[in-house]
Amino acid sequence: MIPYGRQSINADDVQAVSEVLTGDWLTTGPKVVEFEEAFADTVNAKHAIAVSNATAALHLSLLALEIGPGDRVITSPNTFLASANCAAMVGATPDFVDIDPVSYNLDPEALRAGWSDDVRAVIAVDYAGQTADMPAIAQIARDHGAFVIEDACHAVGGQFEYEGKRWRVGGHPWADLTTFSFHPVKTMTTGEGGMITTDDARLAAKLRRLRTHGMCREAHEFTGLGDPSLDERGPWYYEMQDLGYNYRLTDFQCALGLSQLARLPAFLERRRRLVARYHQQLADLPGLTLPGLHHALDQSLTSWHLFTVQVDFASLGRSRTEVMMTLREQGIGTQVLYIPVHLQPWYRRTYGYGPGKCPRAESFYQRTLSLPLYPDMTDDDVDRVAKTLRELLRQPS
Ligand SMILES: Cc1ncc(COP(=O)(O)O)c(C=O)c1O
Repeated sequence: MIPYGRQSINADDVQAVSEVLTGDWLTTGPKVVEFEEAFADTVNAKHAIAVSNATAALHLSLLALEIGPGDRVITSPNTFLASANCAAMVGATPDFVDIDPVSYNLDPEALRAGWSDDVRAVIAVDYAGQTADMPAIAQIARDHGAFVIEDACHAVGGQFEYEGKRWRVGGHPWADLTTFSFHPVKTMTTGEGGMITTDDARLAAKLRRLRTHGMCREAHEFTGLGDPSLDERGPWYYEMQDLGYNYRLTDFQCALGLSQLARLPAFLERRRRLVARYHQQLADLPGLTLPGLHHALDQSLTSWHLFTVQVDFASLGRSRTEVMMTLREQGIGTQVLYIPVHLQPWYRRTYGYGPGKCPRAESFYQRTLSLPLYPDMTDDDVDRVAKTLRELLRQPS
């Protein structure tokens, strides 16, 4: 079976995890700090905070920015549930504006048109790895005094050029906080896992506290209110400054993260080569639109988490289910990413959203299909997927 996405684990990864498993630290130990520092270095950020998954990263980001009831958070409808759910988790209202037809990312013009006075944050998602138009999005948000979070779960290791300069996702000035996922189908994995990067030391310290129950152990952070009866603050002493969570990532996961981070350049290079091969093989197929790169930023070093094509199923006279099932019978996995979040029953029930709110995302959903893409995929695998798809889409139904 050629799956639509899959982790790549080699002997070095296994060795790295085994060493930690037989050592002294299983939960928070030295590998956490090592992984955070190496990741910050890779993306050119001042601070990186490792957390248990990217949903936790998004939740903590909004908490650290003190977004809550009465606030509105705008994100893309073309994303996984977590990019919007995090707003509801802090009591704010998640809202959506439509996507750009080329990048399938949040459209800055739609953001400007859909702005309202209660918007306090924008969560821009780098769909399929392509960086959202961060300079334009940040300009709109900052003009209104709102924060920008970049949901870069698909864009680990991504880079882009803007006004002649190369920037790294997670280390550029157009996001206050950037979140990454290390779920197995993502660019690199820790099993479950996530990271937040920022250049803001105050936000970083707050995120670290919130990751562990809002606790602090540093003397300069103490208020003393935790122990009014005693003047003694011995080595046991800690204070809870905020209501936080247990969103920690384990030491053995961070060991895997470090090992995977060393392989990241090779992963990215392999993904780019596979995408180039898909483009060669599928370029002239009628009824099929290949993924495009938006010209607002130079995206030639995008991280290619997904290879998503658009298929005109209606004019081909075949349903998407039929195409997916036939591919599956031939050992090829595909996926549909994403059902527009505002159409989910909970969002319709809770906020009264429904069809017509984001027409471009809705029509994108009708036609989208993600083909297999992962670093251990071979050239022959790409050829097989392309050949099977060509035959299937050319055949009369
Ligand atoms: C765009 C996006 N945001 C957030 C998440 C949540 O990531 P995690 O599974 O690490 O919580 C995902 C995961 O699928 C995602 O694709």
